[in-house]
Amino acid sequence: MDFTLSEEQLMIQQAARDFAQNELLPGVIERDDAQKFPTEQVKKMGELGFLGMMVDPDYGGSGLDTLSYVLTMEELSKIDASASVIVSVNNSLVCWGLETYGNEEQKKKYLTRLATGEIIGAFCLSEPEAGSDATSQKTTAIDMGDHYVLNGTKNWITNGGTASVYLVIAQTDREKGHKGINVLIVEKGMEGFEIGPKENKLGIRGSDTHSLNFNDVKVPKENRIGDDGFGFKFAMKTLAGGRIGIAAQALGIAAGAYELAKNYAKQRKAFGTEIANHQAIAFKLADMHTQIEAARLMVYKAAWDKDNDINYDLSGAMAKLYASQVAMDTTIEAVQVHGGNGFVKDYHVERLMRDAKITQIYEGTSEIQKIVISRSILRD
Ligand code: CAA
Repeated sequence: MDFTLSEEQLMIQQAARDFAQNELLPGVIERDDAQKFPTEQVKKMGELGFLGMMVDPDYGGSGLDTLSYVLTMEELSKIDASASVIVSVNNSLVCWGLETYGNEEQKKKYLTRLATGEIIGAFCLSEPEAGSDATSQKTTAIDMGDHYVLNGTKNWITNGGTASVYLVIAQTDREKGHKGINVLIVEKGMEGFEIGPKENKLGIRGSDTHSLNFNDVKVPKENRIGDDGFGFKFAMKTLAGGRIGIAAQALGIAAGAYELAKNYAKQRKAFGTEIANHQAIAFKLADMHTQIEAARLMVYKAAWDKDNDINYDLSGAMAKLYASQVAMDTTIEAVQVHGGNGFVKDYHVERLMRDAKITQIYEGTSEIQKIVISRSILRD
């Protein structure tokens, strides 16, 4: 087995690491505190090609593989998971969905601007009463011949306020169940489309999460992605890839917290020596390092599956399930290693601990990952 990264992958990893240190670290605590969207940083990430990493260069993308995207997500998330979720949603859910299933006109009209970061996108599936149970959504897209009329509410939408393009999944024919669902491209400013208030969140506070209201929004038929009734499969397939990005985010949060804990333990003295010399701390670091390495192998394997056209539903769900648990466990322990300082914002680990929690919730909770995994293994 060859686990060596290519020259190109190493270069991208280094570029993401430098960007995170130089551009994301300054002000990350203040942005979290004030719930401030990283506007300048997102613009720069667009210039660096981070917002359309896997998109074909013909559509303004960087034309890279999933592993390069995962390496980037990992590095950005070590420092700022609010910034990395913006990257993840734009790459995995919006650009990938449009590039894979959109038609030529849709790609020309939307994909290039999204891939270059000129605009950003949002993926709208969750609803007040349908987060995990995605087929039970209430938003409707009624077929009126040359257009759909969209009505309903979507919740917890990442990039909800800042996006220009929204992929909205809605029910056209309830009798057909999941086969009656469509995905529509909705533009900010369409009549009847309102953006609700920003959520005040536990973590990833720099990212922009809103509810969205659709009141008789007229969406042209040409804005439907795929055939009539393709919306649910679109959502499932897109989320399957999205989960690899979130798994990489979880991995980065864990690795970032571990690095901080290790450095702190090598400097902080108690009982006459650096605390890393006490087994109570050294064993914590050993556990963290081992679990992060295991998570990393799972995340890279899922990316490798995707890059090699191997079904990644299972490996992606397992990677997300495991990496998000490691993110939670590692960040809690990193706070513990820091003692009282860990409870203080200046040391970053408390923020990483708050950020870790969302990786067990969005793009499918841990319980949803177990449904996907168990169905997959029991089918064999
Ligand atoms: N690829 C292709 N097709 C798939 C698929 C996949 N990965 N998963 C399911 N499907 C298909 C099935 O084959 C089936 O089609 P057929 O009937 O033609 O065979 C159809 O979809 C329905 O599948 P299920 O019967 O398995 O559907 P279900 O209702 O039992 O739901 C579920 C399955 C896994 C629980 C699904 O509802 C799910 O993933 N829920 C979680 C949704 C989610 O992740 N929400 C997060 C919101 S987005 C977000 O967080 C973004 C953000 O802002 C960061």
